[in-house]
Amino acid sequence: MCGIIGYLGSRDATSILIDGLRRLEYRGYDSAGVAVLERTGVQSVVKRAARVETLVEALQERMPEGRLGIGHTRWATHGRPTQVNAHPHTDCRGRISVVHNGIIENFEELRAELRRAGHRFASDTDTEVVPHLIEEYYRGDFLAAVRQALARIRGAYALVMFCLDDPELLVGARLNAPLVVGLGEGEYFIASDIAALLPYTRKVLVLGEGEIAAVTPLGASVTALDGMPAPTRVLHVSWDTEQAERGGHPHFMLKEIMETPEAAANALRGRLDDQGRVHFAELELPDERLQGLAEVRLLGMGTSRHAAMVGEQLIEAWAGLPARAQDASEFRYRPALVGPDTLVVAVTQSGETADTIVALRQARQQESATVAVTNVVGSTIAREADGVIYLHSGPEIGVASTKTLVAHLVSLGLLALRLGELRGVADRRQGLVRELRELPALIRQVLDDGPRLAELARRYAGYRNFLFVGRGLGHPVALEGALKLKEISYLHAEGTSGGELKHGPIALLDRDTPVVAVCTEGPSWEKLLNNVHEVAVRGAPVLALVPRGERALADVATDVLELPRSGELGSAVLATVALQLFAYHVAVGLGRDVDRPRNLAKSVTVE
Ligand code: M6R
Repeated sequence: MCGIIGYLGSRDATSILIDGLRRLEYRGYDSAGVAVLERTGVQSVVKRAARVETLVEALQERMPEGRLGIGHTRWATHGRPTQVNAHPHTDCRGRISVVHNGIIENFEELRAELRRAGHRFASDTDTEVVPHLIEEYYRGDFLAAVRQALARIRGAYALVMFCLDDPELLVGARLNAPLVVGLGEGEYFIASDIAALLPYTRKVLVLGEGEIAAVTPLGASVTALDGMPAPTRVLHVSWDTEQAERGGHPHFMLKEIMETPEAAANALRGRLDDQGRVHFAELELPDERLQGLAEVRLLGMGTSRHAAMVGEQLIEAWAGLPARAQDASEFRYRPALVGPDTLVVAVTQSGETADTIVALRQARQQESATVAVTNVVGSTIAREADGVIYLHSGPEIGVASTKTLVAHLVSLGLLALRLGELRGVADRRQGLVRELRELPALIRQVLDDGPRLAELARRYAGYRNFLFVGRGLGHPVALEGALKLKEISYLHAEGTSGGELKHGPIALLDRDTPVVAVCTEGPSWEKLLNNVHEVAVRGAPVLALVPRGERALADVATDVLELPRSGELGSAVLATVALQLFAYHVAVGLGRDVDRPRNLAKSVTVE
């Protein structure tokens, strides 16, 4: 999820690009760059593997002077955050410049084809295939070449680009990633989001999926990929800058929850082929090593530990391999009974959690195979593990992990499928693949139920203690529901397994202690229903999350929230998203600072 900006007009492009990049830096901040078509007819490309201010220092040595340009602030997905991997990327002759947000799924195949045709690549990025592909098709008509190139690309993109031979044309294109065109007085902007445009214009044209905007000094025209004119939607935006950064949402946490369908889709993108086989580009462990595994350990902290607990169950069920999720901080102080036939999976959004780093190092000393499942390219854990599975969720700014947890659950599901594939476990495979593929759409249905969750939150925000209960995959979901609620609302909340309930936690229950029952589908469904009866007869209010159409708890629970039907993992993901929204609305109702809860940091870099 990078920030992109393009400008065509009569003012100094470089200053406008810098200003836009500063406003977009919250979308990505590991590198930044600009390309400007100078008055002299040459193109200047300046990039730095650092924050925007470092780029500005470099530009101040010699400001490119021109009226057309593009800029980018990067959140790495393919290729480490280095200067050559920073955008803009150019073709072989340096005449076509491109900035990109998204993931090009078939870039390896395209790069191989372009290399055979004689193209030379400078970076490790997926983006760089775009200018070369356009160059390959270019016969004097830039827009036609862009169309031909886009027809070959699979994946997600918001692209802004120009060509030296067409100094009065700025082109933007979008598919599964946002892009807007700002319409000023005799000047035009194309950006990944409205925040970059606000000082210049509030008249915004929102591009639709698969549309291309061609901007010239005479105006902006929008067409579909095949060149047919597309209907245009012009909005007048009244947001202030902060609202715009949050996409119009009152908090980053809500924005990020709303981005969950995209995060799930990004975690899946390019990883399941037509036969339902799993491919991880960056998982550099040889198949033979994975085939010889005796066990898997999954290490993480906080929300990531809950993801690890889900991963543990999936690996056992889907790959038939013993697995164990552990608190990374505890792992390091116990005898490390792992060895070369152990796969140690470091589950971490940031890749910088000190406890998880130390645990990973310990596993490496024992010669275990290690894999990081992380959102941050080039983070310490991504660098030190033998292989990496990136979440591709884009930056998460709210302290509470939300969309990245869902991306972790999807990625661990894929890892379990991959391990199962290597071990010849084929049963239920097609059903599991279908379950994963349906998830983004089902998550959207949960988000559409936001008003109902807000109303439930209003009713429950007056309580001071909560107990969350679940079984099977619902158990880590219950633990996470409790964590999310306590961290942002400061209410006391505990999670427990349904089985454990009668062994202690049930003593807490009375009419002032609600139980949130995560009734996800699975083998212990009947037992969980019994748990709900047990807590209800003790007078505890019950909020039950159940599969759509399920009536078993209608007369027992105080409130029932129906979630779309899915498989076991799908149901766990959907309940997770619902509980994130529930916690969010409770915390907002109590007036908490949900994006920056007290005493917490986004990344815990000390033990
Ligand atoms: O970056 P990590 O995933 O390694 O962070 C681990 C925990 O600090 C983190 O999951 C924390 O519990 C969440 N911010 C809670 O929402």
